[in-house]
Amino acid sequence: MARKDTIFERFLAPVVRLFIDEPALQQFYDTTDWQYESDRFRRPELAYPAYYVQENFHGIEGGYLTPGAAVSYDPITQYALPPSETLIRQGLIDNIHCQPRRILDLGCGTGSTTLMLKQAFPQAEVIGLDLSPYMLFMADRKAQQASLDIQFIHANAEQTNFPAASFDLVTAALLFHETPAAVSQAILEEAFRLLSAGGQVLVLDGHQKVLRQLDWLHNIFEEPYIEDYATGSVDAWMGAAGFGAVRTDDQWWIHQVTSGTKPLPKGKQMSISTSQHPILAEVVGPAFAVDPVV
Ligand SMILES: C[S@@+](CC[C@H](N)C(=O)[O-])C[C@H]1O[C@@H](n2cnc3c(N)ncnc32)[C@H](O)[C@@H]1O
Repeated sequence: MARKDTIFERFLAPVVRLFIDEPALQQFYDTTDWQYESDRFRRPELAYPAYYVQENFHGIEGGYLTPGAAVSYDPITQYALPPSETLIRQGLIDNIHCQPRRILDLGCGTGSTTLMLKQAFPQAEVIGLDLSPYMLFMADRKAQQASLDIQFIHANAEQTNFPAASFDLVTAALLFHETPAAVSQAILEEAFRLLSAGGQVLVLDGHQKVLRQLDWLHNIFEEPYIEDYATGSVDAWMGAAGFGAVRTDDQWWIHQVTSGTKPLPKGKQMSISTSQHPILAEVVGPAFAVDPVV
């Protein structure tokens, strides 16, 4: 349950509560068999990383490994992503520059972005992955309610155990502000391994430059690693992981979407002059490298 001494609980929660149907949430909380539902996703052999179990994310004791975190996540997040949660998440979808066939959403939480990915690419196989079996239960419940065929997996994004080159799009929404910088780096290295050549990685999160000016906010939401995130650079982490064409776009001032591409092996690249392909030029800019086999 949430600690009562955080700034969020003392000053903001009473306001947020005005807009949330608390009795309905409480009833859902009380009538759900959490042991049974979380066991459906839990892989008992999975070892949780120290940063994940030692901190109380958002002032909730036990962090994401509690039913309370899973039940309260969506009602609160809708007010934490101005101007609108859907617009912010859509910013990630709009930055997809391929027709993915296999998509992996890392740190999928309650699946809000995962569902949008499946809606945008209904033919694609979509997998959401998270360390919290409680969050996975909520995500799966939402996917079933929306009749979307999505697989949810209990795993660590740093080491997923999926085969190399088995995805063509890997995403991470609102994950990196909750992980130490070294873990974000490790997750991007895993994304690089998982992607086939030419595949895309997309990271949606708070705007790092803006967050550097808002350190007072960190205490309000009790985000143990947000300073690490704010002072780092997703661009640099992606570059260090091996990605090319790295680019960050602002999303409504306080968010950012960073895209990177896993380069094609040398010798498999060839340049196409886009002056002869006006439509291609509009989509990709003046220079483009494609696999000659395709
Ligand atoms: C702030 S939530 C974001 C959830 C979701 N992506 C969204 O956009 O709402 C962060 C999520 O990352 C998960 N997480 C943190 N570290 C992880 C890791 N190493 N591997 C997988 N999931 C992780 C947490 O359990 C939590 O569900």
